[in-house]
Amino acid sequence: MKQYLSIHDIDSLPAWVAQARELKADSSALKALGKGKTIGLLFFNNSLRTRLSTQKAALNLGLDVMAMNFGNEGWALEYQDGTVMDRGTSEHIKEAAQVVSQYCDIIAIRAFASLSNRENDEAELVLNGFKKFAEVPIVNMESSVGHPLQALADAITLAEQNSKPRPKVVLSWGPHPKALPHAVANSFVEMMQLQEADFVITHPKGYELNPIITKNCAIEYDQQRALENADFVYVKNWSSYSDYGKVLSQDQDWMMTQEKLGHAKFMHCLPVRRNVVVEDAVLDGENSLVIEQANNRTFAAQIVLKKILESS
Ligand code: CP
Repeated sequence: MKQYLSIHDIDSLPAWVAQARELKADSSALKALGKGKTIGLLFFNNSLRTRLSTQKAALNLGLDVMAMNFGNEGWALEYQDGTVMDRGTSEHIKEAAQVVSQYCDIIAIRAFASLSNRENDEAELVLNGFKKFAEVPIVNMESSVGHPLQALADAITLAEQNSKPRPKVVLSWGPHPKALPHAVANSFVEMMQLQEADFVITHPKGYELNPIITKNCAIEYDQQRALENADFVYVKNWSSYSDYGKVLSQDQDWMMTQEKLGHAKFMHCLPVRRNVVVEDAVLDGENSLVIEQANNRTFAAQIVLKKILESS
């Protein structure tokens, strides 16, 4: 495997999940695989889980790790061809990607959506810039439109926690004071389309995700109806896609409560705002899977890095 940019780079989700669970049972078994090789983690945005879990996954495989907060420590990058660089940008992606390739055998990148220009965000300037000009494999640690490491960890968590042949899984929008990207929701939807499940998305009108991504998914605007008989409820905020990047509602009636959740298992990628997105009783309750989801980020990253190392 030469890259992990989206869920579509997974050739068999059940096989990957099974292999990730084997790695979880013996995480240091492949300590020799990455010996003498280096992964570079480039962060254009903040992180807790992604940074530490990807680093831990790399260390479990014997890789050396270099991390850089590109957003405030690196030179401001230029992405357009032929630009007269007499403004704010100091280095072109052409040189930057090739230079990082001299130091690293794998480059992992986090670069969020700006939420100000849909066309630019969907062009994935940072991720695709590195993909085009780097000479080593690229891993997406959350880009403008996708967070495939999170979705793979969520698939591992679902497999571990599910006991039904066809569980009901609900993705519910939750209120949030800030405009957040669509990446986590997009990749979760793409991952769920590879699952045997009754999958329903619920959100207020105006919060429809990109219809190309949600294509055949059931969408229910009544949250209470969507939650009926749910086995798993994944809550996430995202901003409007049609009125791009706007917060159209902060309706607290959409906050997940223990009463609404019932006996379903609760999922969220974290970080989460308590008592805004979800009430304390849910996060502190026995049906919350959020810490195990974070734990599984390591094994999602580890299976991805293992496959890249084995094919390089
Ligand atoms: N879920 C997730 O990606 O967490 P971080 O933003 O802290 O990395």
